[in-house]
Amino acid sequence: MRWLVVCSLLLLGSTAAQANFISDIVEEIINLFQTYEEAPYNVTRTANGYEERLYEARKWVCSRSNSYSDPDMAVLAWRLNHYMTGDHSGQDKVYMGLPVTTEYLQRGPQDKTFTLCFLIDQKHQDDPPTPTNKFVFIEHRLEMRVLTRTVGGYMYHENEWMEEAGKLAAIIQQEGESVSLNHVHWASYDFPWKFWNRRNEVWFPVA
Ligand SMILES: *[C@@H]1O[C@H](CO)[C@@H](O)[C@H](O)[C@H]1NC(C)=O
Repeated sequence: MRWLVVCSLLLLGSTAAQANFISDIVEEIINLFQTYEEAPYNVTRTANGYEERLYEARKWVCSRSNSYSDPDMAVLAWRLNHYMTGDHSGQDKVYMGLPVTTEYLQRGPQDKTFTLCFLIDQKHQDDPPTPTNKFVFIEHRLEMRVLTRTVGGYMYHENEWMEEAGKLAAIIQQEGESVSLNHVHWASYDFPWKFWNRRNEVWFPVA
């Protein structure tokens, strides 16, 4: 998630350009330490090395790319940050929750999409403001059942997520369940400046 650093710097830069220079910077710094709302779920089953969770239906704000390169992901994060801070039909700021998810969907060898999504805060869940950027959209995720486990460390690149997905799929298959590697969510909970107790998860959606 190096792109998140880029994106945070952009965000600081764009707010610093406004008149309330100092107070905006202070607000952004406080935001770094705020507690985030988290997508609510219950653990519905614990298996050997992974668990099944049921996530409540929630609305997310998303933007999509065909590549997971740092510049492409920085653009997506930049668009979503701008949605949060005002590029929408509403009057007030929308706050992001956690985790930040990237939905990975592979339809063919050359056909991959990466959809970056921020959880919309509780206050705007019922009626999220409409994005003004045509590359940003609201996604209404229904109740979702996933198989997952938590891993630490830094997950920067596509191949690191794919490696974890492969390992977890193997563990799940040993228990006689099957999952698809072509459709997963990559969930990140931490900003890059947090060094320990990091939390990353590959989610396999199951019926
Ligand atoms: C999780 O459990 C709580 C308490 O039983 C319940 O209120 C909530 O609706 C459950 N959420 C899901 C997603 O099942």
